Amino acid sequence: MTNPDPTAEFLMLGTCDYPEHVPSDRWAPYAQMQAELGLRFVRVAEFAWSRLEPRPGEFDWAWLDDAIAAYAAEGLRVVMCTPTPTPPAWLIRAHPEILAFDDQGRVREFGSRRHYDFASPVFREHSRRITRAVAERYGQHPAVVGWQTDNEFGCHGTSRSYGGASEAVFPAWLQARYGTLDALNEAWGNVFWSMEYTDWAQVKSPALTVTEPNPSHVLDYHRFASDLIASFQAEQVEILRELSPGRFVTHNFMIFESGFDHYDVARGLDFATWDNYPTGMLEFFAPPGVDEDLKTHYARTGHPDLVAFNHDVYRSLMLGKDGLGRDGAGTPNGFWVMEQQCGQVNWAPYNPLPAEGAVALWTAQAWAHGADVVSYFRWRAATMAQEVMHSGLLRHDETPDRGFAEVADLDLTQFPVGPVPARVALLHDYESLWIYDQQRHAAGLSYWAQTVTYYMALRSLGVDVQITHPDADLSGFAAVVAPAITLVPADRAARWEAAAQGGVPFVFGPRTAFRTPGGATWSDGQFGPLSEMTGARLLQYDSLRPGVTQGVTGAFGSVDASLWAESYRVTGAQTLATYAGGPLDGQSAVIRHGNATVIGAHSLDLIRAVLRDVLGGAGVPLLDLPEGVRVSRRADRTLVQNWHPHAVTWGGLELGPVSSVVLGGDWTPTDGKGAKGE
Ligand code: GAL
Repeated sequence: MTNPDPTAEFLMLGTCDYPEHVPSDRWAPYAQMQAELGLRFVRVAEFAWSRLEPRPGEFDWAWLDDAIAAYAAEGLRVVMCTPTPTPPAWLIRAHPEILAFDDQGRVREFGSRRHYDFASPVFREHSRRITRAVAERYGQHPAVVGWQTDNEFGCHGTSRSYGGASEAVFPAWLQARYGTLDALNEAWGNVFWSMEYTDWAQVKSPALTVTEPNPSHVLDYHRFASDLIASFQAEQVEILRELSPGRFVTHNFMIFESGFDHYDVARGLDFATWDNYPTGMLEFFAPPGVDEDLKTHYARTGHPDLVAFNHDVYRSLMLGKDGLGRDGAGTPNGFWVMEQQCGQVNWAPYNPLPAEGAVALWTAQAWAHGADVVSYFRWRAATMAQEVMHSGLLRHDETPDRGFAEVADLDLTQFPVGPVPARVALLHDYESLWIYDQQRHAAGLSYWAQTVTYYMALRSLGVDVQITHPDADLSGFAAVVAPAITLVPADRAARWEAAAQGGVPFVFGPRTAFRTPGGATWSDGQFGPLSEMTGARLLQYDSLRPGVTQGVTGAFGSVDASLWAESYRVTGAQTLATYAGGPLDGQSAVIRHGNATVIGAHSLDLIRAVLRDVLGGAGVPLLDLPEGVRVSRRADRTLVQNWHPHAVTWGGLELGPVSSVVLGGDWTPTDGKGAKGE
């Protein structure tokens, strides 16, 4: 189920409301205003455990019954939550073993949220108990249309606990994976610094080591912690399915969250949702190409491609690792934005007011990338505690804030639901992310930065992108782009090779197929099992500190690479570009072997030029978009967006500052800015 209303033809809106934060006489007027604003959904109660169960086993449902009745009276549909991100003080003080440990070995105390260890058997029991209680009460309520589990798994660095309950069960997880200690020692390469174990009980979490822990140890701790989150949620989902038939179950995932394998955790949900905070995202996740000047430029909107990337990640998540999706036919589910920024946030170093028009632009962009529902966070700004500096649709004094007016002005009939016609796959997987980021080797270039740089290049060419797991069936795509899939087992390599032989062009970034599933390098070096497909072997890699560049010259002109440059010894591939100057002078920088092209150097201009060449050759329609102008397609429409704080004339269109326009699906620019296949 994608949308609780299968007859919905257009994007729908909602909000996140907190009846427990305001006097009960506000509930009815708020619900009335929400309905008048055109909102259809209200998410509630994800942090309300202390009000739902004030003392052990003593439940107080009356207030939530009344609040839900107020929403229902206005025709609003309720998304109920399991309140597990905030176990109450009485539970924690009775069972302090629920608390998690940080990577400095310190207890993460009660007094905010997410203070629990996913492995804690006591907490698991209470999680099932409160889930059952809430689902028994509201599972069949006519106004309750669906469920959100918990809230933002991993938020505040809570994916992993480095002590206590998690650490206690880690050895058993390893034993199930490896069977014998010999196998574990071999897989991790523990001989390296005499790190070999002779008893399972000797293995601890990879924290507090003198220098960096063994990356294979870290990789498995990430896998282990991810499995814990998946099983924690699965317990809740099972109860919700039993007690709340016919309702959807989802979770609100986060911006660029890396703490767990989202494909595994999403399995069993009906659709994914995520929480979209464009201005905060810019502060924390801008890749190296988005420098301080660009950050300043986009301070009030966020960067279009960072936001779009997350939309595309969550649109495709339910397709799963096999790419088949819930219907087994590879049909992407719609997703929701469960929390959409509608004013300033409170958690970035700087929290500017969004530009005039930003809330409307963010909403339109979410729709164009596949969202079926956009739900604004939050209804009224909090008047107490940690988030008083955060805005809502209403100000503290209950008057409509800036975002409110933009929501009121939206014409939702411009936004029909329907598929996003993305024919180009961009591969993404969490295991590659974990092992890549363990040893970046060039501090400024993370897995996300490398991946997003390729995404930005694709978006600047006007390409709609399908984020795809590397083990999915890739044979139907017009082209496949794998920016940073550094972990490539033999079976994955074989599937890619078959797809390439079937006619699908691949573009690989540096460090592709550098690592084994255990986290080691291949004994025959990069590209390991992909050596045949790429027709090459790694020769050198170079880490470039800011200010040091490496020239590249050849079929794509001359550029200066930054951060990373690797060269190849070709065994069958042809060299399309070589390094010029520096220690790699004359060596292969961009190579091609049949349908496989590898880009060894990090340069947005080079990546863009190679993608233009490969995608053009594959018949993918391309545009030549200026900075800040983006085109996204959905259903039978095209959304042209201007993210600049100033007006832009492009493609025969006059685009106002921070605005978008919905055009027909077959729209193309009228001034020759299209750059069809070259
Ligand atoms: C989200 C979270 C919300 C609220 C919001 C503030 O990460 O789910 O509860 O804290 O951030 O931007």
